[in-house]
Amino acid sequence: MVNKVVIGAQWGDEGKAKITDLLAQDADLIIRYQGGCNAGHTVVAHGKTFKFHLIPSGILYKGKTCLIGNGTVILPEYFEQEIDGLKKENIDLSGLKVSPLATITMPWHTEVDGYSEDNASKGKIGTTKKGIGPTYTDKMNRIALKIQDLYSDEALNEKLDVILPIKNKQLEKVYGLKTYTKEEVLDLCKKYAEIFRPYVCFEWQELLHKFKKEGKKILFEGAQGVMLDVDFGTYPFVTSSNPVGGGAATGSGYGPTVINEVIGVAKAYVTRVGEGPFVTELTDETGNLIREVGHEFGVTTGRPRRCGWFDAVTMKYACLVGGLTSIALTKIDVFDKFDEIKICTAYKDKRDGKIYNSYPTDVYIHKYLEPIYETHKGWGEDITKVTKYEDLPLNARKYLERLEEILETPISIVSVGPDREQTIFK
Ligand code: IMP
Repeated sequence: MVNKVVIGAQWGDEGKAKITDLLAQDADLIIRYQGGCNAGHTVVAHGKTFKFHLIPSGILYKGKTCLIGNGTVILPEYFEQEIDGLKKENIDLSGLKVSPLATITMPWHTEVDGYSEDNASKGKIGTTKKGIGPTYTDKMNRIALKIQDLYSDEALNEKLDVILPIKNKQLEKVYGLKTYTKEEVLDLCKKYAEIFRPYVCFEWQELLHKFKKEGKKILFEGAQGVMLDVDFGTYPFVTSSNPVGGGAATGSGYGPTVINEVIGVAKAYVTRVGEGPFVTELTDETGNLIREVGHEFGVTTGRPRRCGWFDAVTMKYACLVGGLTSIALTKIDVFDKFDEIKICTAYKDKRDGKIYNSYPTDVYIHKYLEPIYETHKGWGEDITKVTKYEDLPLNARKYLERLEEILETPISIVSVGPDREQTIFK
């Protein structure tokens, strides 16, 4: 039994969906453990493109159990839309389960997220406006609704009597937004209860026990990426959950002892959406070329992604705090026509020449940092049909081996295109 966690090792959008989709083939239980519909996971299967936000993409395989874990935050209307989309494609949803302990994103959360983003003159985060931050804030502040509350009149009544006076005061006095009556919220909750009813898994403890006892394979599916982690990322320009490997332990119902491997997915370059520091960002023609060739536009928001060279300084940090046992490197084929490929191996402070070999966690100095690069020769040929590591061009192998050397972490998977077949297991 090898239980694996798949996480993003950069700023999200590393191609996790394809890797989790591949690994899901061998898994019995797939658990999405943090984040919400801020994530956008694209999977190409059966000749079709599927876009997932919340539901583990493992649902595309028959007979798998897919759990949306307690660590997630769920926007009911988005969940419903995703379900409807999958039903239209005749995807079997009988294995889909939702933890009763997952937190509900209420309309005021999305409204506050939108308001905060639209009105921030300084300190704009560039969120997806899906209410993620405000939902996690209320969860930590102990004034959020959990899925299980939808099925308990007592819990709902008692909690709303506490939550609504606080929320309404905030909405009105801090944000100048519409307030909510208890009747309105109870009506909404009735609607939400019906949306989740077929999927909510009150027997989650028995389910998790059973899979563990029977030695079934468990795959933990992370969203976003290490550099967006609320503890370790480029705070405050981060999401509000823990995309690091450790998040799988708190967000799933299993402790850390069931986890055997953590695979960090990274692109052969770096992208970022939203605001925040990005030392290797390229705002020139090379950046545009990476964006065009790599189709770097957001799944959730359609925003063009900021692009830059591979940053081994942040990646080495991600290997540590993410707990990576290996790396899945994606989109290496984007460089097929590049003469030169760069890897950032250190940062230099423009002010005093100080060299940083390790990632400086004070992001407010990142604007003074410039990347120190080593340059590698391109391979100048199409590698999108290569399926064996030995068949990769020499320069591509040299590049990969150099990355392993710098990162002191093995590369276990190389992805050379969006399809399942375009994958090299090393
Ligand atoms: P939030 O998660 O919507 O609060 O957004 C916080 C930051 O995380 C913003 O910079 C978003 O662009 C970024 N973010 C959130 N989800 C994703 C994702 O799935 N991929 C890439 N960036 C993301």
